[in-house]
Amino acid sequence: MRKLTYYVAATMDGFIATDDGHVDFFGGGGDHAAALKAKYPEAVPTKIREALGLKGGSTFDTVLFGRKTYDFGVRTGTSNPFSHLKQVVVSTTLGESPDPAIELVSSDPAGYVRDLKQKPGKGIWLCGGGELAGSLVEEIDQIYLKLFPMVLGSGRPLIAGSSLQKFHMVGHQIFEDGVIFIKYSRH
Ligand SMILES: NC(=O)c1ccc[n+]([C@@H]2O[C@H](COP(=O)([O-])OP(=O)(O)OC[C@H]3O[C@@H](n4cnc5c(N)ncnc54)[C@H](OP(=O)(O)O)[C@@H]3O)[C@@H](O)[C@H]2O)c1
Repeated sequence: MRKLTYYVAATMDGFIATDDGHVDFFGGGGDHAAALKAKYPEAVPTKIREALGLKGGSTFDTVLFGRKTYDFGVRTGTSNPFSHLKQVVVSTTLGESPDPAIELVSSDPAGYVRDLKQKPGKGIWLCGGGELAGSLVEEIDQIYLKLFPMVLGSGRPLIAGSSLQKFHMVGHQIFEDGVIFIKYSRH
């Protein structure tokens, strides 16, 4: 069955963005970025993929965004950020799909994901953010965490409002830039 993987960057104190939604403090470079772009080229926005000459990607064919994460893409100039993937935005306020390439889910995202997992396809990437991850927490099969050597103090949490959920570490890679990439699996 297809798996839902929350592939995300976080600080050591568990934040994915500042309170006002910025992520610039993570920076864009370092050896972890090059290695992970090569490993998961499908998780790179289409325009950047094309600019870097990245192709393919065997892990994910679908991406899920919470509306606030999707808004971040819109603010940076595109309503269709990952046109090489099936894109789904979860929102109660959007009313209609903001772009022909985007599927809108307005209620019961966990039920939507359970149905999606039954269909044929590759992995499902939960891009974020933490609010949507909290809504979907019981459906998250894997967490691929880019743990940055930073403390932010406050911000948007990695997973908002979750109950206790236990995962096993199934792999890790330590990069020279201080980022640790950790793979966790529920099963
Ligand atoms: N560090 C990283 O790797 C990373 C990754 C992704 C995102 N981010 C950052 O994280 C921030 C956004 O994260 P966030 O946690 O604040 O918000 P989010 O999860 O992206 O979006 C929250 C919104 O999603 C919708 N939603 C969530 N659960 C729902 C449910 N059960 N039913 C219907 N709609 C639901 C709601 O939209 P409505 O209000 O429209 O109903 C809710 O307000 C952005 O700044 C983004 O840049 C960082």
